[in-house]
Amino acid sequence: MTAILAIETSCDETSAAVVEDGVRVRSNVVASQVDLHRKYGGVVPEIASRAHLERLDAVIEEALSVAGCEPTDIDALAVTHRPGLVPALIIGLTAAKTLSWAWGKPLVGIDHIQAHAYSPALGGSEPPYPDPPWPAVALIVSGGHTSLFRVESPSQIELMGATTDDAAGEAFDKVATILGLGYPGGPEIERLAGEGNPKAIDFPRSMLGPDSLDFSFSGIKTAVLYHVHGHGKTGGGLERLSRKQLADIAASFQQAVIEVLIRKTLAAVKRTKLATVVMGGGVAANRTLRTALERACHERTLRFLAAPMAYCTDNAAMIAGLGYHHLRHDGPSPLDLDAYAGGALVLRK
Ligand code: KG4
Ligand code: ZN
Repeated sequence: MTAILAIETSCDETSAAVVEDGVRVRSNVVASQVDLHRKYGGVVPEIASRAHLERLDAVIEEALSVAGCEPTDIDALAVTHRPGLVPALIIGLTAAKTLSWAWGKPLVGIDHIQAHAYSPALGGSEPPYPDPPWPAVALIVSGGHTSLFRVESPSQIELMGATTDDAAGEAFDKVATILGLGYPGGPEIERLAGEGNPKAIDFPRSMLGPDSLDFSFSGIKTAVLYHVHGHGKTGGGLERLSRKQLADIAASFQQAVIEVLIRKTLAAVKRTKLATVVMGGGVAANRTLRTALERACHERTLRFLAAPMAYCTDNAAMIAGLGYHHLRHDGPSPLDLDAYAGGALVLRK
């Protein structure tokens, strides 16, 4: 049995987790900073890093205590070191290096997006655990990234397609702002969309050409803006819309994004000839998307596995889970490991 303590501070969640053998989640503590950033309508890096610094010690202590662990029970440390807000990443990275050095345990640096791709493989605190889903096509839909990966195994991940402009979650957040909804926008749009007609407005589905597995969601965001405010005008458009009309916009927007995500995922399946699809990232918490992709997979007799709801938005459990495999396959990272804004796998352009 190998117990890994992981730390995640890449954006606005301060998280620590203890996971055994890459699958048994013994604790996963997440301190959300959403209230601190709400009034700015987005994450402010300096506020995020200060809040990580203030909270991280308590979050780590709680992760150990919920897991019933002493530091001597921990075999290794895993930490997110890319991609993310560098001032925020540095807080977690410094804490992980310090514990690694003080406890004399190995450290492994993890790519946050690859960890989202791993997250569907996580189990609960007790068996049964899911059968490993690999090899699989992984759709990752988060606030900063929309990516398709071919995951042969947890230590062999290849990028197939990625965001060219706004990520799916970013589009949800921006459209929520246009519609006068709260932050973060994804759950707000989902709630409002439940009252609307997804076929009411035919928003553009940007495919970037027949063979592309890359994503673009900035056009649909602009289409929603024009729909609300009219061409060439700014402001004043929201007041003329009824709640039903707003709900129709939210539902039609959500439907267009979901259709693009499903079509691209199925194109990646066709290209790889793999039989399993997994999904993770904050937008993977969207129930309409989960149901629609599951149905599309089952119609084609593909196995489908979405990350458990608790591991869709940012969390350290997925970092610990992938850390276990990286440690076994590639060994530990050096103690001069750096933080990077970009991911390890980037779009080849
Ligand atoms: O993975 P995540 O926690 O952070 C990043 O790594 O970016 O994803 C956060 C994103 C936000 O854009 C948020 O609006 C979106 O996930 N999100 C949702 C839902 N819940 C969170 N989007 C659509 N529907 C949801 N239910
Ligand atoms: Zn994330």
